[in-house]
Amino acid sequence: MEIKPLLEEAEKMKEQVVEWRRHFHRHPELSFREVETARFVTRQLESFGNLQISHPTQTSVMARLIGDRPGKVLAIRADMDALPIQEENTFEYASGVPGVMHACGHDSHTAVLLAAAGILSARREQIRGEIRFLFQHAEEQAPGGAQEMVDAGVMEGVDWVIGAHLLSWIEYGKFGVAYGPMMASSDNFSITVRGVAGHAAYPHQSVDAVAVSAQIITNLQHIVARYTDPLDRLVVSVTQIHGGTTNNILPAEVKLGGTVRCFNPELRTAVKEQMERIIRGITEAHGAEYEFSFEYGYRPVINDPAVTKIVEDAIADLYGAESIQILKPFMGSEDFSAFQQKAPGTFFMVGAGNPAKGIVHPHHHPLFTVDEDAMDHSLKVLLRAAAAFMELSA
Ligand code: NI
Repeated sequence: MEIKPLLEEAEKMKEQVVEWRRHFHRHPELSFREVETARFVTRQLESFGNLQISHPTQTSVMARLIGDRPGKVLAIRADMDALPIQEENTFEYASGVPGVMHACGHDSHTAVLLAAAGILSARREQIRGEIRFLFQHAEEQAPGGAQEMVDAGVMEGVDWVIGAHLLSWIEYGKFGVAYGPMMASSDNFSITVRGVAGHAAYPHQSVDAVAVSAQIITNLQHIVARYTDPLDRLVVSVTQIHGGTTNNILPAEVKLGGTVRCFNPELRTAVKEQMERIIRGITEAHGAEYEFSFEYGYRPVINDPAVTKIVEDAIADLYGAESIQILKPFMGSEDFSAFQQKAPGTFFMVGAGNPAKGIVHPHHHPLFTVDEDAMDHSLKVLLRAAAAFMELSA
């Protein structure tokens, strides 16, 4: 597949991509409720022709571009959902929905993938195998839309999967790639410690759920500090404590909650068991009882080296090797990982921060925005990479 015409086409679509992004930005929808967004995406896809369009779930969209010649299947994913945040930007395309805002850039991802689908579908005769465009709902809210789409079969037959995220903490013109672990798994836990209520002046007549909880909180850090290989990355954070009503009563129970982040699937299972062992041991030692629940959330994003190399080469080819940052793993999470369970894939970052334009706010901030010029970068890298994967398809 020839690269030059693809890039020229992307150049011509710049304004259209901005227009689409602004439309999505003005009309944000929360996770699992992307009804109008999915409708808009579907209408645009239909106008391109050459695509087999379906709705794997209520608010997601899949478009298959199947070439005449046999070959492999590349899936490209964009997420579409917004966040429950009141936007504080004042530009004319700021959110028109009170309390809902595209504060993570998913509006731009959707616009870019639409453009990619438009450009590639016009060249169906050059396609070997298939390019599958996945417009995903609900990235922001566990259990996430990616797993639902996978369960609906969108990854059947897929050989590679790629996805991009515009990031305000990477400067415009730069890109972030990671080989292997990139983003952490994200699991949540809750613990109830049951003691025996009593008068605070007579602790010997009760079982103090507060004191027992304090032991548990302290001991949970042994999992990180003493049970885990120091070279493995792990966070166990207790983020909630609820218990008690007043100063002279020992409460009957205390509730704790928190999150576990790591990169190693075996460690993930081990942590759950180690937590329960600690909770069981401490409550038993002190005559208390417990309830423990551990909910597995998103898996870690672990990039396939060969697929990552293709994307890195595409970036280097277009913007020079100096534009690429090899990212250290970070503890945020992404349900792109669900697609990576089914095919080797890579998730990469497109710099969209620009201090000169005042684009400096972190993701999920009421003043968040992206440098819209970065969408052109993302689009061209996706097209360049798609062409490279087509070559492999031969
Ligand atoms: Ni995001």
